[in-house]
Amino acid sequence: MEVFTSVQSLRQFLDQQVLQQKTIGLVPTMGALHTGHISLIEAAKKDNDIVVCSVFVNPTQFNNPEDLAKYPRTFEADRVMLENAGCSAVFAPSVEEMYPEQPVVKMNFGALETVMEGASRPGHFNGVGIVVSKLFNIVKPQYAYFGQKDLQQVSVVRQLISDLSFDIELIICPTVRESDGLAMSSRNTRLNADERAIAPHIYRILTGAGEALNAGKKVNEVVNWAKSEFGKIKEFTLDYFEVIYLGDLLPIESIGPAGSNAICVAAFLGPVRLIDNIIF
Ligand code: PAF
Repeated sequence: MEVFTSVQSLRQFLDQQVLQQKTIGLVPTMGALHTGHISLIEAAKKDNDIVVCSVFVNPTQFNNPEDLAKYPRTFEADRVMLENAGCSAVFAPSVEEMYPEQPVVKMNFGALETVMEGASRPGHFNGVGIVVSKLFNIVKPQYAYFGQKDLQQVSVVRQLISDLSFDIELIICPTVRESDGLAMSSRNTRLNADERAIAPHIYRILTGAGEALNAGKKVNEVVNWAKSEFGKIKEFTLDYFEVIYLGDLLPIESIGPAGSNAICVAAFLGPVRLIDNIIF
């Protein structure tokens, strides 16, 4: 597995691969890799000759400096995991390499900015849009792999690909969970033992709400029930709990056909903000 820290050396390597008619898949990450990321590498390996994984904690998508400072950075462990997973190349640039100058371009994703992560983390999707565009332009993959756990990010990237005519197919991979249901996330390593023990309640409440909605309960009643469940656990500070239509991510009052609805949640457990969702 090759490790690149400069755009130029990665481009040289990829130009050679393209000359040999190899197909390229990109798995963008911020490192602190876990089994969920490796599932994206596995999916990319099935579809492509060459799999590039980017490992870059992107400062422009953090609106909270403490969150950026505390974001786990475990490059050596990441490198070993990627090597064992059969990844072809890692791109791990410095901040200066990715942003020789502060970008002046601003991306606004319209209504997607006004709900859930967009509303709670102003500027977050601007940063995601810019870094993902840069990675798409540097790697020029045929396929790009993202996890369903970041459901709103998937919608933003889909919009980006469409609006900017990137010739890239977006592949969405299912959320990978711990045996107790907790969605795998790099942020889970920041939970202390007590918080880690409480964290699976997020998935319990999500699935409980999904079952109630499928059984015909009203959306507002289910949302109230979920909020009261979070309220019973003092360690949680709920940011949002929304039942939405997948097409536009806007809240709904009654559910649509199977597969067109999602329940999305963001909650602080101590200082750590966790997100999760289910599609039903
Ligand atoms: O999902 C992430 O880890 C990040 O938002 C991404 C897509 C790598 C962009 O920095």
